[in-house]
Amino acid sequence: MTMMKTARIHEYGDTFVIRYEAVPRPRPAFGEVLVRVAATSFNPTEAALRAGMLQEFLPVDLPYALGWDVAGTVAEIGAGAEVIAMASPRSAEAVLRQGADQVIDYTAGPVGAALDGRVDTLLNLVPLSPPDAAALAPLVRPGGRIISVATPIEPAADAGVSAMHIVARNDVAHLAALVELVDAAELSIEIGESRPLADLADVHHLSESGRTRGKIVIIP
Ligand SMILES: NC(=O)c1ccc[n+]([C@@H]2O[C@H](COP(=O)([O-])OP(=O)(O)OC[C@H]3O[C@@H](n4cnc5c(N)ncnc54)[C@H](OP(=O)(O)O)[C@@H]3O)[C@@H](O)[C@H]2O)c1
Repeated sequence: MTMMKTARIHEYGDTFVIRYEAVPRPRPAFGEVLVRVAATSFNPTEAALRAGMLQEFLPVDLPYALGWDVAGTVAEIGAGAEVIAMASPRSAEAVLRQGADQVIDYTAGPVGAALDGRVDTLLNLVPLSPPDAAALAPLVRPGGRIISVATPIEPAADAGVSAMHIVARNDVAHLAALVELVDAAELSIEIGESRPLADLADVHHLSESGRTRGKIVIIP
């Protein structure tokens, strides 16, 4: 693992909270670049941030690397992403059609055994049992990230992996952007089936027994 030096804080406080330490060198994702830093600078505002005085106006995730300004050279450009999807045989074709480069059958055995190396980003879109969630966390390389919209997946404290759990919110601009993607045929929503409202209890039952696939439209 390639390491680099950073000066960061793990907590707010006096100057002793600044730790000069080695961390895994990040790999740039698509649309990002890795900069070999020739110099940064000291900004007095960062002292206030370090002391915790700006938490209300400028919240940051800890640990937080100090040094806002940067001069340097681009060392690496993020490549296009390779997407590995997890699906059972009934959905393999559909996820390949949606752009996956590879499909792993999550019903055939441990996902880690089918994976060649570790991944940069793990995106979880399904509810998982605690053991299944725990088994996925180590599949992310140091410097990588985990994003989940369902069961939160927690990496080990010393894994060097960030994790976030996100919840959708109603946002007109976001919805408009999604509609544009649908209109441009860049995003498609798979409708599993349409059912009358009177069947709602049955739909709940199907979902709880893991038999639904695609969006289920409920008609009055
Ligand atoms: N955070 C938020 O804002 C937000 C918003 C909406 C939904 N959610 C949550 O997102 C989750 C999914 O919602 P949904 O509408 O997509 O539900 P869904 O249609 O019921 O999901 C069914 C699909 O899950 C797949 N699946 C089940 N276990 C899997 C596993 N271990 N690995 C890979 N795929 C697996 C199945 O794939 P196969 O067909 O391949 O078996 C199935 O097609 C739910 O928990 C929901 O509550 C969160």
